[in-house]
Amino acid sequence: MQRLVAPSLLAADFTNLKRDIEIINNSEADWLHMDIMDGVFVPNISFGIPVVEAVHSISEKPLDVHLMIVQPERYIETFKNAGAHLLNVHYEACSHLHRTIESIHNSGMKAGVTLNPHTPVQLLEEIITDLDLVLIMSVNPGFGGQKFIPGSFEKIRKLKELILKKNSKALIEVDGGVDDTNAKALAEAGVDVFVAGSYVFKSENPAEAIRKIKYPV
Ligand code: DX5
Ligand code: ZN
Repeated sequence: MQRLVAPSLLAADFTNLKRDIEIINNSEADWLHMDIMDGVFVPNISFGIPVVEAVHSISEKPLDVHLMIVQPERYIETFKNAGAHLLNVHYEACSHLHRTIESIHNSGMKAGVTLNPHTPVQLLEEIITDLDLVLIMSVNPGFGGQKFIPGSFEKIRKLKELILKKNSKALIEVDGGVDDTNAKALAEAGVDVFVAGSYVFKSENPAEAIRKIKYPV
């Protein structure tokens, strides 16, 4: 399967958001990743629903929305209406994960579950066949520009095994500290979707940075 790249808007220049979205529109990026933080589930607050709506109105790429919020089930319809294509909820934030995934699907979106670095992939054993995607956090969520946690490789390999064993169609997405130095090894470990914030938006040439992740040498 071809690898997908989802630049994370968190690292964009918010005083030039339209320009940065147009850069992504004109690039080989596949999705646009949007990080929603509530200051409770994670120790930071990012942007909210009006920003998702505004971005949706000019983005030509599907929106991959990563909810770092408590009780994400309260906002499923809201994010659907704001333009989310795929909704990622954290395993650690959901007491009734099965019901939440069902609600995301019923609202017409793709459903992903995100795992914090300490959360084992084995916990997904009973739900993996219901998922469109699993997002492995390769940093502790809350901030861009952090260092990639090397143990994520082993976790991605274990997740790939679980997906194959259960015959699940779930894609593997990785988020945090992704750049051209680890993209190739991550793809070999089983990653399908690469989220990259700082590496893309802080680079001189974001479109080229996206290509370097998509076609690493
Ligand atoms: C972190 C966010 C990431 C972040 C990645 O909580 O989920 O999406 O934007 O940023 P980089 O690629 O800079 O590590
Ligand atoms: Zn994210």
